[in-house]
Amino acid sequence: MSLKSTIEEKSSSAVGADFAKVSATFSGNVDDPFPIYRQKRENMPVMVGDIVNEFGSATFTTMEKPRPVYTLFRYKDVMDVLKDAKNFSSGFLMETGMAAFMDGFALTAMDGDPHRQARGLLQPCFAPDVLKAWRLNRIEPVIRSEFVAPLVARGSAELVADMALMFPIRVIYDLMGFPNDHAALTHFASTALRILGGISPDPEAKKAAMMAARELYDSTLIVVQARRAAGADGDDLISRLIRSSFEGNSLTDHQITMFTRMLLPAAAETTTRTFSTLMTLLLERPELLARLRADRSLLPKIIDESVRFEPVATFKVREAMHDTVFHGVTIAKGSLLSLCVASANRDDAVFEDGDTFNIDRPAKMSFGFGFGPHMCVGLFIAKAEIEVAVNALLDLMPDLRFDPAYPRPVIRGIQLRGPDAVHVVWTPPVAN
Ligand code: HEM
Repeated sequence: MSLKSTIEEKSSSAVGADFAKVSATFSGNVDDPFPIYRQKRENMPVMVGDIVNEFGSATFTTMEKPRPVYTLFRYKDVMDVLKDAKNFSSGFLMETGMAAFMDGFALTAMDGDPHRQARGLLQPCFAPDVLKAWRLNRIEPVIRSEFVAPLVARGSAELVADMALMFPIRVIYDLMGFPNDHAALTHFASTALRILGGISPDPEAKKAAMMAARELYDSTLIVVQARRAAGADGDDLISRLIRSSFEGNSLTDHQITMFTRMLLPAAAETTTRTFSTLMTLLLERPELLARLRADRSLLPKIIDESVRFEPVATFKVREAMHDTVFHGVTIAKGSLLSLCVASANRDDAVFEDGDTFNIDRPAKMSFGFGFGPHMCVGLFIAKAEIEVAVNALLDLMPDLRFDPAYPRPVIRGIQLRGPDAVHVVWTPPVAN
């Protein structure tokens, strides 16, 4: 039995249930917040309080030690905060429930020189030339052969459960160069899923996730140590991290283990939702789908526009390190700034007619992958995975379309956005 079939079984039950739980936690009570964001951008670009709370969604600004919170909605304000890590810090993240995932080497919660050093060591391991080989030898075979090809004969699928929940986890497993052993693969998948289930304020889910994170740490550390002892000369991520050096420093086994473990929450759910959202936007627009079929070079543009128009991670939070003023509102040192990326990405001041999905608009930076020193380190991997997945679907399912037997998918959610399910049909090849 393959990992794919094992985790597919889980996907119908445990994984699907965990995914639904995470969606419910971060969805809130408004499916389409964009008209409200537009109004805020125009009339109240600085809001006292966290709008995420008002929508009834879980938020990362609710912590043991309550602090004043302000929400910013405009592109320029969001950019000014994200690019200035000296005055707007991420360190408070260590106070959130995620701290136990992070002990010792918490990239997203680091600031200043330690963060610069860490990025200097990590970034070359994700460089475009590295990715080129990974795409060919690892990402393409995993997604196309293990996830898309086996669906073709069926003629119908639900893209979230049948593909998107699992391929990002499977790709990470492969990039880490974990042993190609069935029991180990299955164990990794179920541990990963328990960790992802912990992205929730539910104390039981958090406890299970912490235990899974500890388990994964212990098993990964053994692999890291063994790989270092064997010379670490492979092209897998762990070997590359062992060989990496920056300004005379290198990574310890503990740091490598912490970092690779952190990739699960950073790289799985985000890619799942981005792919599912993009497929929804594409299938809703048959004329765009036809353009893409005729010219696959449009795909990077479609990914960028999709991440602008419907970013999956819709808010970023930073702490003000000094008293500061935005649009006449004084924000005291120690306050939290909830940055509404979903709003900033549609700001007409930068993106003309921002509420319209238009792949032909001039290319401009959006915040779908973050911005500034914490910008997504796995951006090229994420884009490669999505490109490979979409191309494989278009290659192998020539008349792919929404399944008329199901309601059209709805992209919804406040803190995390995406469709719950994307039911599709196509004409399967005639069996000989
Ligand atoms: C479409 C999928 C993805 C999206 C939308 C996404 C989005 C983001 C965003 C918005 C941030 C910024 C966080 C901040 O400012 O605090 C981020 C950071 C990060 N991402 Fe991604 N990501 C994706 C996939 C991946 C993948 C595939 C990997 C790794 C293989 C990855 C690894 C990371 C890491 C390690 C960070 C932390 C960087 C730092 O704090 O310096 N992400 N991502």
